[in-house]
Amino acid sequence: MIEIKPDIYYVGVKNPDMRIFDVFFRTESGTTYNSYLIVGKEKIALIDTVKEPFRDEFIKNVEEIVPLEKINYIITLHHEPDHSGALKYILEKSNARVVISKTAGLFLKQILHRDANPLLVGDNDKISLGNITLEFIQAPFLHWPDTMFAYIPERNILFTCDFLGQHFSDEAIYNDESRDFTYAFEHYYKIIMRPFKDYVLQAIKKIENKNIDMIAPSHGMILRKDPWKYVDLYRTWSTPKPRDYRRALVFYASPYGGTGKLANSIAKGLADSGVYVEIFDLAGTVIDDSLLDLIENSDALIVGSSTLNGDAIKPVWDLLSSLTTINMRNKIGFAFGTFAWSGEAPKFIENRLKDLKLKVPETSFRAGIIPTEEDLQRAAEMGKKLAGYIIGPSSSVPA
Ligand code: FEO
Repeated sequence: MIEIKPDIYYVGVKNPDMRIFDVFFRTESGTTYNSYLIVGKEKIALIDTVKEPFRDEFIKNVEEIVPLEKINYIITLHHEPDHSGALKYILEKSNARVVISKTAGLFLKQILHRDANPLLVGDNDKISLGNITLEFIQAPFLHWPDTMFAYIPERNILFTCDFLGQHFSDEAIYNDESRDFTYAFEHYYKIIMRPFKDYVLQAIKKIENKNIDMIAPSHGMILRKDPWKYVDLYRTWSTPKPRDYRRALVFYASPYGGTGKLANSIAKGLADSGVYVEIFDLAGTVIDDSLLDLIENSDALIVGSSTLNGDAIKPVWDLLSSLTTINMRNKIGFAFGTFAWSGEAPKFIENRLKDLKLKVPETSFRAGIIPTEEDLQRAAEMGKKLAGYIIGPSSSVPA
């Protein structure tokens, strides 16, 4: 329990040993579930709770300051269970009113399995704790639909939910006292916030004129030193970067080389039409952050696979299952592949590209296991056709 501002206490729990969050997110430095208790002269509010298994330590932290029954409000900034898991235990021992955003009613019911008669708040709504005011700022899709921030003007502190958070745990709780967490901060943005860049910029607009000298996220270090530096990083990462050429990426998996030949022919058709093309043989391609950055900064994703046992080959699925952290809307997609007898892979890829919200203007392309010259010519023509769907300048020279 640490008083981070007058009357505002950190009551969160650390989980330094966690190495995987949400099943897939590697967390070399663990994480924290941050929660904050605000003790006003008339009312007491708790901002967020913690993941259910940590409830006992959490309750102990809170009760070092006040008994649970004294809490008047529990502000749930969003309803992912790593912050709402202990909510029901707090409610069992208090008559606190749960405060949620107007879009969160269903989520709260799912968590509690009952109607808790929450207080719904929207942009600029306020709750007075006497000498302290909580102001609410809707921040949808950062990263849940119901996400909101809470701001205390009397203390110049902003509570930002997962926004500006980090999966990082340290003996310290402040950014100016901890080990370096640059990687954790950037990686968190890439995994959690990257699909929602427009919403990041909208949220920054809502907070940029407020007096804020401390940002208290729901994970990781409290940003006490240079808090706006971190906001500016989010702004930079979320601002579209103009590109004066069109870029297409062609990925393929090709045990006997036929699908690779189709890939090269499609790429040639694209390049002849002024599109800058990069080709990747998935047999030797590492799917890492830099590749995802490249995909995000491309206009078209063209994916080919031979059919193996009635399916696309595993590296293709590895690629296609790695794209949920990127907003793929408005990119052009296309699928192709060779086959010997059944040939399902291109259709499966095409469906996945559509599910990822790419625009797929042409039906997938198939050829026999050893493509003919005519097949390769058809593939090149398809490349030219696809170039016509990619909107942008005609230069093929990357800046
Ligand atoms: Fe840290 Fe979206 O929960």
